[in-house]
Amino acid sequence: MSSGGDAPGMNAAIRAITRAGIASGLLVKGIYRGYEGLINNEIKSFTTEDVSNIIQRGGTILKTARSKEFMTPEGRAKAYENMKAQGIDALVIIGGNGSLAGARIFAEEFDVPCIGLPGTIDNDLNGTDSTIGYDTTLNTIVECVDKIRDTATSHERIFFIEVMGRDAGFLAQNSAIASGAEAAIIPEDSSNADQLEQFISRGIRKSKSSSMVIVSESPKCGAMYYADRVKKEYPEFDVRVSILGHLQRGGSPSAYDRILASRLGVGAIEALKEGQRNVMIGIRNDEVVYVPFSNAIKSDKPIKKELIDVLGILSI
Ligand code: F6P
Repeated sequence: MSSGGDAPGMNAAIRAITRAGIASGLLVKGIYRGYEGLINNEIKSFTTEDVSNIIQRGGTILKTARSKEFMTPEGRAKAYENMKAQGIDALVIIGGNGSLAGARIFAEEFDVPCIGLPGTIDNDLNGTDSTIGYDTTLNTIVECVDKIRDTATSHERIFFIEVMGRDAGFLAQNSAIASGAEAAIIPEDSSNADQLEQFISRGIRKSKSSSMVIVSESPKCGAMYYADRVKKEYPEFDVRVSILGHLQRGGSPSAYDRILASRLGVGAIEALKEGQRNVMIGIRNDEVVYVPFSNAIKSDKPIKKELIDVLGILSI
């Protein structure tokens, strides 16, 4: 199943899990709409043909959902009954933090082998260098920022560009480096209480007539918040905001994400064959690794200080 926010590369993972499973003599079933489909019995046997011609497609052919019912003990009990009635012995879940947290609880409550695949554009799962979808989204953001830069330069404006990431700043920090932005405002950089002041002190300079600032989404301090402050404090600057929104999640997966998803999908089946349970499959230093759910979902995947320094040095 795929669960939570869709991410480019989920289809490549579905293909890999299905084909590797069948190659190992297993019967593979696709569960639609994540945990919601397990509760509502939306389950179908998959053949290798069911996953033909999908490696290049964004989104997820299995559809996805954020199931509220699965958060309740009653919902999970229903899911378990369906699973047993369908003859399903193990689950492979492609999803982010919330989805793997759900798998962890389900596995503990019902003693079901669950294997997770990191599928989220946010890159906020521990124990893997990258998550499925992150690289594609990073490239999408960079493409957008390059385009916005044309306007910023022509009109000599300051642009605050808001990107996704939920509570993580990987997308903002690395897209800022890759697009040559002047600054990134991310939740992890708490070393300076006021990140706008930091940007202003080094970013708004007379020698630069335009600036790009990438801001991590945040309910209170998103791009609008920073733009309003600059407008008030520096009325001489022409300020604009661009919130990239859901266009960041769609599109054909990059080669990197397709390869990552393929390796992780095969890794999931290998893990099941080895008798592994309740682990996320990750890739660290180019090796497939098994990460216990409890470690994978810890909410503290750090952003290297070096990345913050690189952006700071290069944006002078
Ligand atoms: O977790 C992926 C993500 O795209 C986050 O970056 C973002 O905060 C959230 O999902 C948006 O969720 P939804 O599509 O439900 O609005």
